[in-house]
Amino acid sequence: MTKSLVTASKLCVERGNRRVLDNISFTINKGDIFALLGGNGAGKSTTLLTFLGFVKPSSGEAIINGIKVEEDIQAARGQIAYLPESANLYAHLSAYENIEYFLSLAQISRSSQEISLSLDDVKLAPKMRIEPLSSYSKGMRQKVAIALAMLRRSPLLLLDEPTSGLDPVAIDEFNTILKALADAGTTIFMVTHDVYGACEIAKRVGLLQQGKMASVFEAVGETKISAEAVHQAFRQSQPS
Ligand SMILES: Nc1ncnc2c1ncn2[C@@H]1O[C@H](COP(=O)(O)OP(=O)(O)OP(=O)(O)O)[C@@H](O)[C@H]1O
Ligand SMILES: [Mg+2]
Repeated sequence: MTKSLVTASKLCVERGNRRVLDNISFTINKGDIFALLGGNGAGKSTTLLTFLGFVKPSSGEAIINGIKVEEDIQAARGQIAYLPESANLYAHLSAYENIEYFLSLAQISRSSQEISLSLDDVKLAPKMRIEPLSSYSKGMRQKVAIALAMLRRSPLLLLDEPTSGLDPVAIDEFNTILKALADAGTTIFMVTHDVYGACEIAKRVGLLQQGKMASVFEAVGETKISAEAVHQAFRQSQPS
């Protein structure tokens, strides 16, 4: 049995007649966190969209749990919970109502106790759970989005800049939740601009530069990836 849940194999993607992903290859093992970093326009979101089947590669393959995305988009999407850059939850509904509504759309049935436990996991204050999201901070809205993603119980979680706009304490809290999720077996593929946070939690960090994988860093044993090394590589990868 293969340990890898996600494989990008020589992925090439064209958008607007331009090659935006150029021969990208990587794998993510089950229960690992992979963080993809890179400058604006480097192709990070495009990589996620390719795994979701919204963008088709001109060559190469995106594979999730042995499913080739191009061959069976629905089955591949069935493996994924996706948090886009700004989660589309309803401001006039509470945390409970949003979660119930989006689970019912996905035809997933969860008890109110399961929903409460998930909101416990993300540490959303109980008194806020029946308030409309319009009264939440951005960090609190992200907690609802991650609770919803967790309730889907998908093997793979895709996140596009989940901590952008969060304060440092909220970022730490969010990263702790992700780490716990990965430790419980969920595989996480995240796009982020947060070098420090990525190095805190990721098994591997990939650095995209204008559609190419410029470098990949890996945590060995208990030793975390050096944020300084990634930061330096990032600076060097930017066109001067
Ligand atoms: N819908 C689209 N049509 C054509 N080109 C696109 C489209 N979306 C993105 N691109 C181009 O693809 C390239 C990669 O974009 P992408 O959104 O993947 O970058 P990113 O690394 O996620 O950047 P950011 O950090 O700004 O979110 C960019 O050059 C962008 O202009
Ligand atoms: Mg993006």
